[in-house]
Amino acid sequence: MTQSPGQGNALDNLLTESRTFPPSDEFAAQANAQPALYEEAKADREAFWAKQAERLHWETKWDQVLDWSGAPFAKWFVGGKLNVAYNCVDRHVESGHGDQVAIHWEGEPGDSRAITYAELQREVSKAANALTSLGIGAEDRVAIYMPMVPEAIFAMLACARVGALHNVVFGGFSAEALRTRIQDSACRLVITTDGQYRRGTPAPLKPAVDEAVADAPSVEKVIVVKRTDTEVAWTGKDVWWHELVDSQSDQHTPEAFDSEHPLFILYTSGTTGKPKGILHTSGGYLTQASYTHQNVFDLKPDTDVYWCTADIGWVTGHSYIVYGPLSNRVTQVVYEGTPNTPHEGRHWEIVQKYGVSIYYTAPTLIRTFMKWGADIPAKYDLSSLRVLGSVGEPINPEAWIWYRENVGGGKTPIVDTWWQTETGAIMISPLPGVISTKPGSAQRPLPGIGAKVVNDEGVEVPAGGGGYLVLDEPWPSMLRGIWGDEERYRDTYWSRFKDQGFYFAGDGAKYDADGDIWLLGRVDDVMNVSGHRISTTEVESALVSHPTVAEAAVVGASDDTTGQGIVAFVILRGGAGADAGGADAIKALRDHVAKEIGPIAKPRQIMVVPELPKTRSGKIMRRLLRDVAENRAVGDVTTLADSSVMDLISAGLQSGKAED
Ligand code: PRX
Repeated sequence: MTQSPGQGNALDNLLTESRTFPPSDEFAAQANAQPALYEEAKADREAFWAKQAERLHWETKWDQVLDWSGAPFAKWFVGGKLNVAYNCVDRHVESGHGDQVAIHWEGEPGDSRAITYAELQREVSKAANALTSLGIGAEDRVAIYMPMVPEAIFAMLACARVGALHNVVFGGFSAEALRTRIQDSACRLVITTDGQYRRGTPAPLKPAVDEAVADAPSVEKVIVVKRTDTEVAWTGKDVWWHELVDSQSDQHTPEAFDSEHPLFILYTSGTTGKPKGILHTSGGYLTQASYTHQNVFDLKPDTDVYWCTADIGWVTGHSYIVYGPLSNRVTQVVYEGTPNTPHEGRHWEIVQKYGVSIYYTAPTLIRTFMKWGADIPAKYDLSSLRVLGSVGEPINPEAWIWYRENVGGGKTPIVDTWWQTETGAIMISPLPGVISTKPGSAQRPLPGIGAKVVNDEGVEVPAGGGGYLVLDEPWPSMLRGIWGDEERYRDTYWSRFKDQGFYFAGDGAKYDADGDIWLLGRVDDVMNVSGHRISTTEVESALVSHPTVAEAAVVGASDDTTGQGIVAFVILRGGAGADAGGADAIKALRDHVAKEIGPIAKPRQIMVVPELPKTRSGKIMRRLLRDVAENRAVGDVTTLADSSVMDLISAGLQSGKAED
């Protein structure tokens, strides 16, 4: 365990933070979610969820709301049949909203495209026909490795439409990371682009696919969207999107699939080196994505312009760009690029241009905006904003207040939404028209959701107490397992509080005096860098795969901007040579990690050390390394097999410290 609940900055903040911000009377009066929602859910949870499922179009209605007899494998809306893509696209056209803009797409170089629901229906139908023409159908797996272009969304919806599972891999991941994710779920098809714009310049993307596919025999075809018009090598498996998809009919009849038909796999880091393929299914997932999106963000489909800044490579992009918003007939902004291209006001320029009213982002980005200065958002008209959201990591009260003052004009509610890839949709968050918000707290489980903070024995802690966050009731959008690894699913989430039958989220949390929940960060060996989960083991494996490294230990050290930064301690191999600890060699190691996993996993700092602190049973004591990484006095060393190791490390750092 790397952090026990009760430690860390969130707690310090908690001690000083006591402000609350009630919604204005006007906001409260018009809000989608009213106080009665809590009562309704409490009175009859299953009836409540059944009512939420009614927001979707079911081809065949379910005959049982929840079947939990196969716990921890849930079945929701048993016997029901629906098509997820139909619910996100066609039914809005059929209800007369074909001309409403679904997506205001903004390319990084400044090109833009407005896509109406009618056009979305045609694009998704063509893409679905293209999949069928390649023999891709129900239960096949399709890897999507793309930047934030509209075709990425068309591709996801086309998969859903034909019953294939998408496996979206973040475009910032390396060829190696892509290969393992394709192999693990035996994808038959990959959809990618020639390149992607990153900070104003086109960067190649397809070469990584070529490298991954060379070693992934399950892949039969690769569809390539032309985005940057860069020259790409061509293999016998490749086919251009504009040749294959654009020639298809734009008519396609969706087939209804079982409520429990698999919808997608999304890989996420766990405590071992091997990413977990989190499996989500259809009816329950869409119900909760849709319900939470409408109530937490207070979406009004006729007037709001919504913008979630996530990438579709993460679960936030799945649930709050694609499935939740489109099922609610949103008009949304999708932006391709980075927030400072070509200038640091790019997001605010986009808010002003489209009149964005709901904006959902991550604390890391808010802290970056803080660094860039309040004068930047002040140059733009942000008066259209009425709800702000935060996700991915604990938001410190200072950033929360800055966000409200400088982006929200000192008046918008901020919803701090806690959830995970595994939970599929938001679980803990204030409802913006009901709850007086508190800077830094995600506050309480949404109506219909059961969550609590418990101690080591699984007993709920009293107000003011800290412990582990657990989910004590099955929920519709819960994961249905880890792809191909039932044992790991049971072990990872259901073994810690087996007797109580709780799902253990891996997070430490605390109740304040009012009983509101404050998240305190991970309690396992998972880091959270810029809201992205990276396992310490994964980075350690990448480091030791380098020929100069004998052993590595990685910790997440607190970082003012990214929440946590990756700090690695490495022991070099005997024959590594005198230069192996020099600045060039350290840079090479950092680049090696970027190549193995992706640039987001690049250590902020690598320290060459002669020894690592270990317990008698050989477990690395990351707690002590974190003390070093955060420049603190090193804590209790009595359980170390050799207590002089920390002295050796500290001495070694005087000379071996390398940072850039
Ligand atoms: O530690 C929690 C943190 O992010 C983890 C989930 O990461 P991931 O599956 O990548 O999904 C991120 C987007 C939903 C959680 O276990 N986390 C997420 N949201 C919050 C958070 N920590 C504190 N406050 C949040 N609002």
